[in-house]
Amino acid sequence: MSASKDKTVFVTGGAGFIGSHCIVELLEAGYKVVTIDNLTNSRSGALKRVEELTGKSVTFYQCDMLDAVALEAVFAKHHIDYVIHFAAMKAVGESMLFPLIYYKNNVIGTINLVEAMKKHNVTQLVFSSSCTVYGDPATLPITEDHPTGNVTNVYGRTKYLIEEMLKDLSRADPDKWNIISLRYFNPVGAHPSGRMGEDPTKPFTNLMPYISQVAIGKRDKLTIFGDDYDTVDGTGVRDYIHVMDLASGHVAALDRLDSEHLRYKTYNLGTGCGVSVLQLVRAFEAVTKTQVPLDIQPRREGDIVSMYANTDLSKRELKWQTKYTLENMCEDFWRWQTQNPNGYADDAPYEPETL
Ligand code: WQD
Repeated sequence: MSASKDKTVFVTGGAGFIGSHCIVELLEAGYKVVTIDNLTNSRSGALKRVEELTGKSVTFYQCDMLDAVALEAVFAKHHIDYVIHFAAMKAVGESMLFPLIYYKNNVIGTINLVEAMKKHNVTQLVFSSSCTVYGDPATLPITEDHPTGNVTNVYGRTKYLIEEMLKDLSRADPDKWNIISLRYFNPVGAHPSGRMGEDPTKPFTNLMPYISQVAIGKRDKLTIFGDDYDTVDGTGVRDYIHVMDLASGHVAALDRLDSEHLRYKTYNLGTGCGVSVLQLVRAFEAVTKTQVPLDIQPRREGDIVSMYANTDLSKRELKWQTKYTLENMCEDFWRWQTQNPNGYADDAPYEPETL
């Protein structure tokens, strides 16, 4: 257990799906939390739900990663001990249409953040990276030393470039920086209370929200992109991880930063289990007692066949492993979806503070 008492974590992208669930775990672990979000793909109501669930307050500023002056003002106003950097654009398809926006927002945004950290001598950072940096894996399950960079989409390339930049930064000043990059696999699910979940303001792009929308009757069929892959049943295989497991992985990463000066290190956050699209659909149907009609279509461009994590390093060094099952992911997502059909859209906005 880290000496989290009175320690403050600055979370970027805190109103987002993963950021908001992570803040719940940080508050429960005793950290104070300051967060920013530009609300371009999230709703501030998520932070109100965080406060309701934890009974603790969050300091929220509406701020963009490209507003270097506002970013620096956060560090001038608060004594920050750690930074967890979630804020990023993350839609693979969108990233191929608008590459400059993605490089500017994700890479320049991170440079702005690190420059503000440097100015205020804040040197402990957890970066939200992605298994997409591995590209199409040569070996499975994927270990952290698998080559990275052979990435076909712009979103994944921004994550790869940021990892490389952070590595260079820690090499340039090894006694200063203490950085962990967490490579997420496929985040799914929702807070077990049913009060928090995935609620992007932009259209969904990932599988589970689509399954749920078909199950609830908002869509008539689930499109399956390819059933001719060399996998257990021909459909794509991924490592689906419950968002609450992902959140606890970030608390474990802060503990790891406390335990040793790492300079720069990466860890996979996955379950270690590969699950096919069809296996996820069947699990969802069984848990929710619904039917999900299927429409088999050709493969989606850029999709890889199979991707799942080797979790040994995370277990050993983060002293962390996943606890939630595939059934938990399905039932928790379903509870969120059925109890909040409009997500946070009907919630009163959570008024940001002024910097
Ligand atoms: C999963 C599987 C599809 C939708 C995402 C993020 C990426 C990273 C990992 C965090 C694939 C199939 C999907 C549908 C389908 N996360 N599918 N019908 O592509 O693995 O990548 O998670 O950084 O950022 O993009 O996730 O949910 O889109 O696809 O058949 O309607 O489901 O072909 O096999 P993906 P996904």
